[in-house]
Amino acid sequence: MGVGHQQSILLIVTGGIAAYKSIELIRRLREEGIGVTPVLTASGAEFVTPLSLAAIAGEKVYQDLFSLTDETEMGHIELSRRADLVVVAPATANILAKLTHGIADDLATTLLLATDKPVLVAPAMNVRMWEHPATQANLATLKSRGVTFVGPNSGEMACGEFGPGRLAEPLEILAGIQAALSTASSGRKPLEGRRALVTSGPTHEPLDPVRFLGNRSSGRQGQAVAEALRDLGAEVTLISGPTHLTEPHGVTTVKIETALQMLAACQGALPVDIAVCAAAVADWRPEKPSGQKIKKDGPGAPEIAMVQNPDILAALSKDGADRPALVVGFAAETEKVLEHARAKLRKKGCDWILANDVSDGSGTFGGSENTLHLVHDAGEESWPRMSKKDAARRLAEKIADTLANPAVIGEIE
Ligand code: C5P
Repeated sequence: MGVGHQQSILLIVTGGIAAYKSIELIRRLREEGIGVTPVLTASGAEFVTPLSLAAIAGEKVYQDLFSLTDETEMGHIELSRRADLVVVAPATANILAKLTHGIADDLATTLLLATDKPVLVAPAMNVRMWEHPATQANLATLKSRGVTFVGPNSGEMACGEFGPGRLAEPLEILAGIQAALSTASSGRKPLEGRRALVTSGPTHEPLDPVRFLGNRSSGRQGQAVAEALRDLGAEVTLISGPTHLTEPHGVTTVKIETALQMLAACQGALPVDIAVCAAAVADWRPEKPSGQKIKKDGPGAPEIAMVQNPDILAALSKDGADRPALVVGFAAETEKVLEHARAKLRKKGCDWILANDVSDGSGTFGGSENTLHLVHDAGEESWPRMSKKDAARRLAEKIADTLANPAVIGEIE
């Protein structure tokens, strides 16, 4: 996405121990192809040097409102408007207060007042400063003006206290920035007003309190689908098994462990217009998980009786008042990919199956790329190998087109 125009942000780094995390954030942003122009406040410069920010960003660092060279090269108005998004990370209580009241007494605050771009803030401060009614009132005002917040997180703070106030992790801020950038850039929201549920990740089926049966699903494809549907304006519930991924921004995430919990969470998310089942649900579960850890000093190996798990995709596809307008499943196959996908479509009763080859060497499970074939009764279409994110965007666009023209649900060109 975004060919032709490299997206860029203005990153304002204010004072605080957490300022060191801005280096990691810039590195992650650049890895994602997002340009960063750093702005450092005087107190920020007490914690991180302009040289380290410039080196990582590959850009000049702006610090002074009245620096002649800066003003001739680029006025502060220009600087505040050429980026797609203005990010303040870390943001102190002080800059939040200034932003709320329109104070512009240095370069950072002047840029914030002069910008016509969306603003995203990642606060970091002592827990008492965060909880102070003044900060909370400022927060409410800024939110009502459309400023987006990432964090703060709760935890142990540099000052030794515990509670909310820790800067969100760089990957969480990155996710927030990506969500804000795509909202800012696309403007097109064909799924506005639509509700979607996406299942994702593996399920863990307990054998005893410490062991479970699971699988290698990373949850990447499902999460990318949730994000792509969100980017097109859908209100998305992501129902995810255990993964190592950072929770996506702007999506309601419900974390579950077992297939039965996933089914209950899906039913709780209904009614929806769109259901995409990308989870690798365990087909079987131990019938009676042991209440105590199974000991190896028993007679021989334990015999574990298994029962079949409900098929969530099939359950969602059943006719009824709550059946989503479009139900999409995935089929991971190691051979006869299309043949098996067609059979699965009939068996499950869903509208589309996205079949992917997960045979050894395909690199799909746990990897970041996928080769998908979209299969429906009326035909099929093979997509070239692409990143899971691009595949998710293509799927979301296809879903949006199809819902906009319900007569063609299932008709594939
Ligand atoms: O039958 P199989 O597991 O290959 O089907 C894969 C599709 O069915 C995926 O979309 C998966 O999310 C869904 N599924 C499910 N509940 C199950 C098993 C699979 O929703 N118990």
